[in-house]
Amino acid sequence: MCGIVGYIGTKQAAPILVEGLKKLEYRGYDSAGIAVFDKNNNIQVIKTKGRLSALEEKLKPCNLQSNLGIGHTRWATHGEPNDVNSHPHASQNGHIAVVHNGIIENYMQLKEFLQSKGFLFQSDTDTEVIAQLVEYNFKGNLVKAVMNTLNDLEGSYALGVICTTCPEEFVAARKDSPLIVGIGENENYIASDIPAILQHTRDIYILEDREVVRIKQNDIAIFNLLGEKVERDIFHVDWDITSAEKGGYEHFMMKEMCEEPQAVKATLMPRLKDGRVLLDQIDMTPEDVKRLEKINIVACGTAYHAGIVGRYVIEKLVRIPVEVDLASEFRYKDPLVNEKQLTIIISQSGETLDSLMALREAKRKGSRVLSIVNVVGSSIARESDDILYTWAGPEIAVASTKAYNTQLAALFLIALDMANKKETITEAEYQNYIAQLNTIPSLLETVLNNKEDIQKFASGQFNEKSIFFLGRGLDYALSMEGSLKLKEISYIHSEAYAGGELKHGTIALIEEGTLVVCPLTQENLVEKMISNIREVKARGAIVMAITQNKHAAEVVKSADVVITIPDVISLFAPIVAITPMQLFAYYMSVLRGNDVDKPRNLAKSVTVE
Ligand code: AGP
Repeated sequence: MCGIVGYIGTKQAAPILVEGLKKLEYRGYDSAGIAVFDKNNNIQVIKTKGRLSALEEKLKPCNLQSNLGIGHTRWATHGEPNDVNSHPHASQNGHIAVVHNGIIENYMQLKEFLQSKGFLFQSDTDTEVIAQLVEYNFKGNLVKAVMNTLNDLEGSYALGVICTTCPEEFVAARKDSPLIVGIGENENYIASDIPAILQHTRDIYILEDREVVRIKQNDIAIFNLLGEKVERDIFHVDWDITSAEKGGYEHFMMKEMCEEPQAVKATLMPRLKDGRVLLDQIDMTPEDVKRLEKINIVACGTAYHAGIVGRYVIEKLVRIPVEVDLASEFRYKDPLVNEKQLTIIISQSGETLDSLMALREAKRKGSRVLSIVNVVGSSIARESDDILYTWAGPEIAVASTKAYNTQLAALFLIALDMANKKETITEAEYQNYIAQLNTIPSLLETVLNNKEDIQKFASGQFNEKSIFFLGRGLDYALSMEGSLKLKEISYIHSEAYAGGELKHGTIALIEEGTLVVCPLTQENLVEKMISNIREVKARGAIVMAITQNKHAAEVVKSADVVITIPDVISLFAPIVAITPMQLFAYYMSVLRGNDVDKPRNLAKSVTVE
């Protein structure tokens, strides 16, 4: 996903833009660039394929003197990653420069129109079309030119625009791609995400869809597309800066795994008061819960896997059918959703476009929408009827870890609250589950204090070509996430399989030396899973099992390696058993020399189709 930074003020713009882009590197990118005014008020565009270090090399001889500029890290969607296709893009007369995050779906028609008006293009990108169109629409007022341009665009955008004839201001706009405005002293900013400007200001405006903002050194004016001024409350960011830094860890991913006990505590504790589950402002009455015919859980990637765990837990406790869908499937299948259903959207970033569009589809069909989100004020949060923030703190590594654990914690809270209101569990069971929830942060601490066995096992396996994850029930749901974690950072092929399904095909793939990872945390299924371990062992597999201390003596008789976790009830086991799998994936990636925090081809939040 692309990163955007913009600045106007009294300081030199170029270093501020580059430093801001560095704070957005976690989003994944393949090129970078900035556009600033030079002393003759011409726009200088310096950009390059590759990392920000390559851009800094290009900037060294430029001696740019400018107090206004825009910067961009690009994750290629239209046009291959190269110098010409990187942002910013200038219009053909050089008066306009644009940075863009998103996809313009009708860019070819617009490009043909502009070519018929004599415009010549340099790149293959949709963004260059925006720059040319702003020039075409520019009649002296940059805000108006941008508004007229936006009225012709179809698709998603977060934009920064500068113009040579408007050296005292720049303009920004958004639709479906996030953008914030940073409010400084005699200076102001725009950014795709908070970390880019947190060292300069904690006060921001969160732009809403189809809004345009004019930014001057001492004035910020937000407009809707009709040109009407819009009032907006200032949002104060209360993160501490170190939470968006590595804090001495080699990788953000390890830091964020080690934050899991605190993150889960932050999710749970504000909602567990005086022996009750209190879900913030979510006023779902017992009648609301009893009236529910079905619950939909919709998400992508890791959040989707959290949803699958959530389905087991909610169905077990609340006895309501739960359907879990990938957001990219849900939004196009004309889903059977109505006002008697609750749709839960899970998203760490709160900006995943497929999940946002699925939310809108569910609302369009009358469903109440509750979102489990980590980023406060994000698009999904703002469009939901109810929000349960995970309060995990910023998750910078592309591979999601603490967010998954906290999403499970949020789902456990929702399941308990509903079960209590629907009276499908007794008060004694309710209290016992709450007591169990309170132990989870310390159980995670124990797991994280015993990384060595996992690191040691990984050191013997990191050249594997394909790794199987095998589980039953909640352990199958858990295996899906363990498999994704491994794939996305070690680049080793992996597959999660239901233990009982093995004999229906996949066991054909098991051969001498095949590595199989088996979580065995479900009390009623341990014996069945031990049989599965014996089946694959009989065909030469090497098996790493993950199980509670209480089952270790039994499991060690069949598995090659047993990673133990503290005893935890089956229903909540995934929130603890996932951490050894996250650690396994981490060590495999480090051993293979991969970029753990910024794995190839991936972005932290996918705000495009
Ligand atoms: C998980 O490790 C991946 N980074 C990815 O699958 C991610 O979970 C997915 O893109 C959903 O992101 P979200 O939670 O921000 O919506």
